[in-house]
Amino acid sequence: MELWAKALEFTNDPVHDDITSNLLQSIEILKSIEEVPDSVIQMIEDVETINPTLQFVSDNLLIDTRYEIPTIVTDEEGNISASRFIDGNVSADLVDEFAEVNEPITITRSEGNRELRNYIYFGESQTVKYLRYFPFIQFGILAVLIGIGYLTYRSINRSEKSNLWVGMTKEAAHQLGTPLSSLYGWIQLLKEANKNDDETLSIVYEIENDVGRIKGITERFNKIGSEPELKSIRIDPIIDQVIDYMVRRLPQLGKKVDVRKNISTTAKIRLNPELFQWAIENLIKNAMDAIKIKEGDSFISVSVFENSDSLVIDVEDSGTGIDRKYVNEIFKPGYSTKKRGWGLGLSLTRRIIEDYHNGKIFVLQSEKNKGTTIRITLPL
Ligand SMILES: Nc1ncnc2c1ncn2[C@@H]1O[C@H](COP(=O)(O)OP(=O)(O)OP(=O)(O)O)[C@@H](O)[C@H]1O
Ligand SMILES: [Mg+2]
Repeated sequence: MELWAKALEFTNDPVHDDITSNLLQSIEILKSIEEVPDSVIQMIEDVETINPTLQFVSDNLLIDTRYEIPTIVTDEEGNISASRFIDGNVSADLVDEFAEVNEPITITRSEGNRELRNYIYFGESQTVKYLRYFPFIQFGILAVLIGIGYLTYRSINRSEKSNLWVGMTKEAAHQLGTPLSSLYGWIQLLKEANKNDDETLSIVYEIENDVGRIKGITERFNKIGSEPELKSIRIDPIIDQVIDYMVRRLPQLGKKVDVRKNISTTAKIRLNPELFQWAIENLIKNAMDAIKIKEGDSFISVSVFENSDSLVIDVEDSGTGIDRKYVNEIFKPGYSTKKRGWGLGLSLTRRIIEDYHNGKIFVLQSEKNKGTTIRITLPL
């Protein structure tokens, strides 16, 4: 800008006009003197028509558009006399705006005895404007990279841990397989040997039932280790079955709990019934564990409803609640506040809901000694 200002000052300098008029005057005088040959006059005329310096400045310095810096030239009174590289209105406001960004450059020009000043106000070129955003863009990219790094680290960490637990579950299921099949063998032998003894037979059938139940559990353990099959089925009977099963077990726990269900949908969703029921069972079991008092109006409420594009399952209880500090801990494998708890229920439940069913599970609300609501959402 300073170079441009100097060039402008130079081309505007009246000295150039003075030189021209002086030369023209000299030519006139020389022409009137007879002894001066025409060739000399011609030479002076040639000199007058070329002015290489002035031409270089006006042709090369002034029109250089490499740096398109918006510029306004004003006179001493602030009247705008020229402008360039400005789209739109050239106004006094713009002059003020430029003055804030850059100190104006003053150029002078003498007219007679007077010295006239012009001011050159200039703003920022497009390049400088882009450069201003550059640090933000750079930090933005950096933040995104750090974010991706952190998420990757977290997911590796999380999946490593949960893979370990899943590995253990699968291994347990595998180990139980052999004694279970031999138990079935023994049961068959006992049945044979006591064909006529009804009393013993009824005990054998009870044993068979319980062994069947253990087999069911090992099958679940096995399923969690491999990608399960999903079927599109209605959700309401699935939930109904779990609640019924849990209600039947309640008297064994010796607690008086009102189990409410509120299912207002018959939507079909893609799920694996065994694993899904296991997940809900875990939540209801936790809710039962959380209810400590034997009498009173304790309740567990299971609600299922549709909410825009998802299916919501809320399991609410009037139990002990979860300490705010631990709300994020409860889904981690191994976290348990129970004497005989493994801390596995919720981490397996989360795996079933989030990894296998593409849903979400979280603590919707929880208050000390008031109760807890755990929410599951599934895509419809
Ligand atoms: N509904 C609830 N109300 C209060 N605390 C809860 C509730 N659900 C879970 N918790 C807390 O979260 C912890 C972890 O639950 P999780 O089901 O993972 O393990 P657990 O029930 O202790 O053991 P298990 O492996 O036998 O299920 C519990 O020990 C309990 O402190
Ligand atoms: Mg549990």
